[in-house]
Amino acid sequence: MSALPLRSPPPFEAAAMRVPDLTEVIAVEYQAYPVPWTHGNFVDSLVADYPAEVLRGPRAELLGYWVAMPGVDEMHLLNITVVPAWQGHGLAVVMLDRLVAECRHRGLPQLWLEVRVGNARAREVYLRYGFAEVGRRRAYYPVPQGAREDAILMSLAVAV
Ligand SMILES: CC(C)(COP(=O)(O)OP(=O)(O)OC[C@H]1O[C@@H](n2cnc3c(N)ncnc32)[C@H](O)[C@@H]1OP(=O)(O)O)[C@@H](O)C(=O)NCCC(=O)NCCS
Repeated sequence: MSALPLRSPPPFEAAAMRVPDLTEVIAVEYQAYPVPWTHGNFVDSLVADYPAEVLRGPRAELLGYWVAMPGVDEMHLLNITVVPAWQGHGLAVVMLDRLVAECRHRGLPQLWLEVRVGNARAREVYLRYGFAEVGRRRAYYPVPQGAREDAILMSLAVAV
């Protein structure tokens, strides 16, 4: 039996997401999601000063990004996306580690997220990372052609 190749994350630099990043970010959204976030969704998050980062490779190429919403005792992950060409190289874990560090920095002991019930890949990544599936929100997500898809609510305790 042959071993799977080891795919480690590429070299990257992380920076706060800014409005000039959004043209590239939205192009990735359209590749990555059936119902992508709009320019306005991102701008609202940036105006609200939510923590948000982009990861870029050595030639400044976009590798991935995340956006989260801080609350009183918790952080809510709103968007985490790896550029399709770089999926499967562990970048989700890199970004989750950075998000957890942000939770610690802010003293927020609980991290929440929703994921489409049909997004097996993301659910697997979160479970492996240590999230627990704690609930289900019926018809939470829009899907093309007007139907709705349930969300799985996931949670992770952060040692602060
Ligand atoms: C979900 C996402 C963030 C994961 O990022 P990533 O950096 O590619 O994650 P990983 O490198 O850990 O690879 C994904 C893992 O999922 C697993 N996986 C892949 N397809 C899978 C499937 N259909 N079912 C279950 N697990 C799957 C694999 O085991 C893979 O791990 P491996 O590389 O050890 O084989 C990324 O795929 C992505 O951006 N997807 C589109 C946007 C999205 O769905 N975001 C999450 C919204 S909640």
